[in-house]
Amino acid sequence: MMDLRGCIFDLDGVIVDTAKYHFMAWRRLAKELDFTFTLEDNEALKGVSRMASLEILLNKGGIHVSEEEKARLAARKNGWYVEFISGMTPDEILPGSIKLLRALRRKGILTAIGSASKNAGTILDRIGLRPMFDAIIDGNKIHKAKPDPEVFLRGAEEMNLPPSSCVVFEDAQAGIEAAIAGGMKCVGVGSPELLGRADLVIPDLRKITIKQLTNL
Ligand code: BG6
Ligand code: MG
Repeated sequence: MMDLRGCIFDLDGVIVDTAKYHFMAWRRLAKELDFTFTLEDNEALKGVSRMASLEILLNKGGIHVSEEEKARLAARKNGWYVEFISGMTPDEILPGSIKLLRALRRKGILTAIGSASKNAGTILDRIGLRPMFDAIIDGNKIHKAKPDPEVFLRGAEEMNLPPSSCVVFEDAQAGIEAAIAGGMKCVGVGSPELLGRADLVIPDLRKITIKQLTNL
Protein backbone atom coordinates (compact mmCIF):
# COMPACT_ATOMS: atom_id res chain seq x y z
CA MET A 1 0.00 0.00 0.00
CA MET A 2 1.34 3.46 -0.83
CA ASP A 3 1.26 6.65 1.18
CA LEU A 4 -0.79 8.58 -1.39
CA ARG A 5 -0.37 12.31 -0.89
CA GLY A 6 -0.54 13.79 -4.36
CA CYS A 7 -2.05 13.13 -7.80
CA ILE A 8 -0.58 14.64 -10.95
CA PHE A 9 -2.85 14.79 -13.96
CA ASP A 10 -1.89 15.15 -17.57
CA LEU A 11 -4.38 17.64 -19.05
CA ASP A 12 -4.91 16.87 -22.75
CA GLY A 13 -6.78 13.58 -23.04
CA VAL A 14 -7.15 13.00 -19.29
CA ILE A 15 -9.04 15.97 -17.82
CA VAL A 16 -10.29 17.37 -21.09
CA ASP A 17 -10.67 16.06 -24.64
CA THR A 18 -8.33 18.48 -26.39
CA ALA A 19 -6.58 15.60 -28.18
CA LYS A 20 -9.23 15.95 -30.89
CA TYR A 21 -8.36 19.63 -31.44
CA HIS A 22 -4.62 18.86 -31.64
CA PHE A 23 -5.44 16.17 -34.21
CA MET A 24 -7.69 18.48 -36.25
CA ALA A 25 -4.96 21.13 -36.41
CA TRP A 26 -2.16 18.68 -37.32
CA ARG A 27 -4.36 17.03 -39.95
CA ARG A 28 -5.07 20.43 -41.47
CA LEU A 29 -1.36 21.19 -41.62
CA ALA A 30 -0.65 17.81 -43.25
CA LYS A 31 -3.40 18.52 -45.79
CA GLU A 32 -1.80 21.84 -46.68
CA LEU A 33 1.48 20.00 -47.13
CA ASP A 34 -0.31 17.48 -49.38
CA PHE A 35 -0.31 14.29 -47.35
CA THR A 36 -2.79 12.40 -45.20
CA PHE A 37 -2.39 12.25 -41.46
CA THR A 38 -4.57 9.64 -39.74
CA LEU A 39 -5.93 9.20 -36.21
CA GLU A 40 -3.54 6.29 -35.91
CA ASP A 41 -0.55 8.46 -36.88
CA ASN A 42 -1.73 10.94 -34.26
CA GLU A 43 -1.17 8.46 -31.41
CA ALA A 44 2.59 9.06 -31.56
CA LEU A 45 2.05 12.81 -31.02
CA LYS A 46 0.15 12.48 -27.76
CA GLY A 47 2.07 13.91 -24.83
CA VAL A 48 4.87 15.03 -27.13
CA SER A 49 5.91 18.72 -27.33
CA ARG A 50 4.80 20.93 -30.20
CA MET A 51 8.14 20.94 -32.03
CA ALA A 52 8.73 17.21 -31.50
CA SER A 53 5.20 16.57 -32.80
CA LEU A 54 5.97 18.61 -35.91
CA GLU A 55 9.12 16.56 -36.52
CA ILE A 56 7.09 13.32 -36.36
CA LEU A 57 4.47 14.75 -38.70
CA LEU A 58 7.01 15.99 -41.26
CA ASN A 59 8.74 12.66 -41.10
CA LYS A 60 5.44 10.92 -41.89
CA GLY A 61 5.01 13.17 -44.93
CA GLY A 62 8.63 12.73 -45.98
CA ILE A 63 9.05 16.50 -45.89
CA HIS A 64 12.32 18.33 -45.26
CA VAL A 65 12.26 22.03 -44.45
CA SER A 66 14.51 24.62 -42.82
CA GLU A 67 14.39 25.40 -39.09
CA GLU A 68 12.79 28.72 -39.96
CA GLU A 69 10.03 27.01 -41.93
CA LYS A 70 9.51 24.54 -39.06
CA ALA A 71 8.91 27.44 -36.68
CA ARG A 72 6.42 28.91 -39.13
CA LEU A 73 4.55 25.60 -39.55
CA ALA A 74 4.39 25.03 -35.76
CA ALA A 75 3.03 28.55 -35.29
CA ARG A 76 0.46 27.93 -38.02
CA LYS A 77 -0.74 24.74 -36.32
CA ASN A 78 -0.85 26.47 -32.96
CA GLY A 79 -2.89 29.34 -34.40
CA TRP A 80 -5.62 26.92 -35.49
CA TYR A 81 -5.41 25.03 -32.21
CA VAL A 82 -5.77 28.20 -30.13
CA GLU A 83 -8.79 29.12 -32.26
CA PHE A 84 -10.36 25.70 -31.55
CA ILE A 85 -9.78 25.86 -27.79
CA SER A 86 -10.92 29.48 -27.50
CA GLY A 87 -14.49 28.25 -27.78
CA MET A 88 -14.19 25.50 -25.17
CA THR A 89 -16.65 25.29 -22.29
CA PRO A 90 -16.79 23.31 -19.01
CA ASP A 91 -19.01 20.82 -20.89
CA GLU A 92 -15.82 19.47 -22.44
CA ILE A 93 -14.38 18.31 -19.11
CA LEU A 94 -14.11 14.53 -19.39
CA PRO A 95 -16.56 12.46 -17.30
CA GLY A 96 -15.44 11.64 -13.76
CA SER A 97 -12.73 14.33 -13.60
CA ILE A 98 -14.48 16.76 -11.27
CA LYS A 99 -15.81 14.04 -8.98
CA LEU A 100 -12.35 12.50 -8.60
CA LEU A 101 -10.63 15.87 -8.03
CA ARG A 102 -13.20 16.74 -5.34
CA ALA A 103 -12.84 13.36 -3.62
CA LEU A 104 -9.04 13.65 -3.55
CA ARG A 105 -9.07 17.20 -2.22
CA ARG A 106 -11.64 16.31 0.45
CA LYS A 107 -9.18 13.70 1.71
CA GLY A 108 -6.34 16.25 1.77
CA ILE A 109 -4.60 14.65 -1.22
CA LEU A 110 -2.93 17.38 -3.29
CA THR A 111 -3.61 17.74 -7.02
CA ALA A 112 -1.44 19.02 -9.85
CA ILE A 113 -1.41 19.37 -13.62
CA GLY A 114 1.62 17.98 -15.44
CA SER A 115 1.20 18.92 -19.10
CA ALA A 116 3.55 19.40 -22.03
CA SER A 117 1.24 22.06 -23.43
CA LYS A 118 2.01 25.76 -23.49
CA ASN A 119 -1.73 26.31 -23.80
CA ALA A 120 -2.62 24.51 -20.54
CA GLY A 121 -3.39 27.76 -18.67
CA THR A 122 -5.79 28.94 -21.37
CA ILE A 123 -7.61 25.60 -21.31
CA LEU A 124 -7.88 25.52 -17.50
CA ASP A 125 -9.37 29.02 -17.55
CA ARG A 126 -11.82 28.13 -20.32
CA ILE A 127 -13.10 25.10 -18.41
CA GLY A 128 -12.92 26.79 -15.00
CA LEU A 129 -10.76 24.15 -13.30
CA ARG A 130 -7.72 26.21 -12.29
CA PRO A 131 -8.82 26.42 -8.60
CA MET A 132 -8.90 22.61 -8.38
CA PHE A 133 -5.09 22.31 -8.62
CA ASP A 134 -2.39 23.02 -6.04
CA ALA A 135 0.30 23.17 -8.72
CA ILE A 136 0.19 23.68 -12.48
CA ILE A 137 3.23 22.61 -14.46
CA ASP A 138 2.94 23.22 -18.18
CA GLY A 139 5.09 23.46 -21.28
CA ASN A 140 6.19 26.98 -20.33
CA LYS A 141 7.81 25.79 -17.09
CA ILE A 142 9.79 22.80 -18.32
CA HIS A 143 12.74 22.23 -20.61
CA LYS A 144 12.58 18.50 -21.27
CA ALA A 145 9.53 16.91 -22.83
CA LYS A 146 7.96 13.59 -21.77
CA PRO A 147 9.23 10.80 -21.64
CA ASP A 148 11.66 12.83 -19.55
CA PRO A 149 10.21 12.93 -16.02
CA GLU A 150 10.91 16.67 -15.50
CA VAL A 151 7.26 17.78 -15.71
CA PHE A 152 6.10 15.31 -13.04
CA LEU A 153 9.14 15.77 -10.78
CA ARG A 154 8.50 19.49 -10.86
CA GLY A 155 4.86 18.82 -9.96
CA ALA A 156 5.87 16.76 -6.92
CA GLU A 157 8.37 19.44 -5.94
CA GLU A 158 5.80 22.25 -6.14
CA MET A 159 3.47 20.18 -3.95
CA ASN A 160 6.39 19.55 -1.58
CA LEU A 161 5.95 15.80 -1.89
CA PRO A 162 8.36 12.97 -2.63
CA PRO A 163 7.72 11.36 -6.06
CA SER A 164 7.03 8.03 -4.34
CA SER A 165 3.87 9.46 -2.72
CA CYS A 166 2.45 10.68 -6.04
CA VAL A 167 0.31 8.97 -8.67
CA VAL A 168 0.33 10.20 -12.28
CA PHE A 169 -2.69 9.98 -14.60
CA GLU A 170 -1.73 9.78 -18.29
CA ASP A 171 -3.27 8.97 -21.67
CA ALA A 172 0.02 8.95 -23.61
CA GLN A 173 2.76 6.36 -23.85
CA ALA A 174 5.41 9.08 -23.47
CA GLY A 175 3.70 10.21 -20.26
CA ILE A 176 3.61 6.70 -18.76
CA GLU A 177 7.34 6.39 -19.46
CA ALA A 178 7.91 9.78 -17.83
CA ALA A 179 6.05 8.74 -14.68
CA ILE A 180 8.00 5.48 -14.45
CA ALA A 181 11.29 7.34 -14.97
CA GLY A 182 10.28 9.74 -12.19
CA GLY A 183 9.69 6.90 -9.72
CA MET A 184 5.95 7.45 -9.56
CA LYS A 185 2.99 5.12 -9.72
CA CYS A 186 1.03 5.59 -12.87
CA VAL A 187 -2.57 5.15 -14.03
CA GLY A 188 -3.09 4.88 -17.79
CA VAL A 189 -6.31 6.45 -19.03
CA GLY A 190 -7.28 4.80 -22.31
CA SER A 191 -6.68 1.45 -23.93
CA PRO A 192 -4.62 -1.31 -22.23
CA GLU A 193 -3.00 -2.20 -25.58
CA LEU A 194 -1.37 1.20 -25.77
CA LEU A 195 -0.78 1.89 -22.08
CA GLY A 196 0.27 -1.55 -20.87
CA ARG A 197 3.30 -0.24 -18.97
CA ALA A 198 1.09 1.62 -16.47
CA ASP A 199 0.41 0.16 -12.99
CA LEU A 200 -3.30 0.26 -13.75
CA VAL A 201 -5.24 1.09 -16.92
CA ILE A 202 -8.75 2.54 -16.80
CA PRO A 203 -10.99 3.64 -19.69
CA ASP A 204 -11.77 7.03 -18.06
CA LEU A 205 -11.88 8.67 -14.62
CA ARG A 206 -15.47 7.68 -13.82
CA LYS A 207 -15.01 4.64 -11.62
CA ILE A 208 -11.58 4.97 -10.07
CA THR A 209 -11.56 5.02 -6.25
CA ILE A 210 -8.99 6.39 -3.79
CA LYS A 211 -8.73 2.89 -2.34
CA GLN A 212 -7.61 1.55 -5.75
CA LEU A 213 -4.99 4.27 -5.89
CA THR A 214 -3.56 3.61 -2.42
CA ASN A 215 -3.37 -0.08 -3.32
CA LEU A 216 -1.07 0.58 -6.29
C1 BG6 B 1 0.38 17.70 -24.93
C2 BG6 B 1 -0.42 17.06 -26.03
O1 BG6 B 1 -0.41 17.78 -23.76
O2 BG6 B 1 0.79 19.01 -25.29
C3 BG6 B 1 0.39 17.08 -27.32
O3 BG6 B 1 -0.72 15.72 -25.69
C4 BG6 B 1 0.83 18.50 -27.63
O4 BG6 B 1 -0.40 16.56 -28.35
C5 BG6 B 1 1.62 19.07 -26.45
O5 BG6 B 1 1.64 18.52 -28.79
C6 BG6 B 1 2.08 20.50 -26.67
O6 BG6 B 1 0.96 21.34 -26.73
P1 BG6 B 1 0.96 22.84 -27.19
O7 BG6 B 1 -0.43 23.30 -26.81
O8 BG6 B 1 2.01 23.55 -26.39
O9 BG6 B 1 1.25 22.87 -28.64
MG1 MG C 1 -2.33 13.65 -22.84
